[in-house]
Amino acid sequence: MNEDMRYVDFHTHILPEMDDGAKDLSESLEMLRLLREQGVGAVCLTPHFYPYREGPEDFLERRQRSFSLLLPRARELGVRLVPASETFFTDTVLNLPDLSALCMRDAQGRRYLLTELPFSSSFSARTLDRISRLMGVHGVVPVLAHIERYPKLFSDAGKIDELIEMGCLMQMNLEALDGGFFQKRKALRYIRDNMIHVVGTDSHNTRTRPPAYLPGITAVERALGKEAAAQLSANARQIISGSLADGA
Ligand SMILES: [Fe+2]
Repeated sequence: MNEDMRYVDFHTHILPEMDDGAKDLSESLEMLRLLREQGVGAVCLTPHFYPYREGPEDFLERRQRSFSLLLPRARELGVRLVPASETFFTDTVLNLPDLSALCMRDAQGRRYLLTELPFSSSFSARTLDRISRLMGVHGVVPVLAHIERYPKLFSDAGKIDELIEMGCLMQMNLEALDGGFFQKRKALRYIRDNMIHVVGTDSHNTRTRPPAYLPGITAVERALGKEAAAQLSANARQIISGSLADGA
């Protein structure tokens, strides 16, 4: 692998005109360029999917239109793209016939769904039960998005462990490593203890939520060593290995 493109950004809103992310193709390209400069060689495209607002067919049709605009330009930049989603988890999701196109896929065909919950979620027994049903009904691995944004979850290592035991994976935004002292310390401890599996910028634009990959990953490298940082991208590459094989 080219060392200059060793990182994977697992969570972005870079697709043009898709959600509250990039407003047009030129902003998308600027975001990709910024990531490329920071050593990111593969980018997961995870636009918001709110199943109570639109059906999966409409969402996927919009995503395909947006993706086909971006793909040829990303190839010019040498950045690999993986079309996926950040799916807001409601009971509606349990009733959808098929989540495959919303997911990322590994080389064995296992599917992974970047899953968002309400920030107010207390991760009660009921919520854990619904997450377990998501896995049972659809056979997907939930990757819980930006876990640092759920106060009840991020402050409770036991709860994170319980979810991992169930078979969930944890995604953290790199900005958590740029936050206050206590948040950063906790984030580093979770990475050290393999409780964070993948990281991303969750970037939305070039101004207020830009693709800032390097500050966070450099903090990991300084505190825990280069291998710990490399492991996060290795995990991501494993998760998207089947999707990348599609030639995006
Ligand atoms: Fe997001």
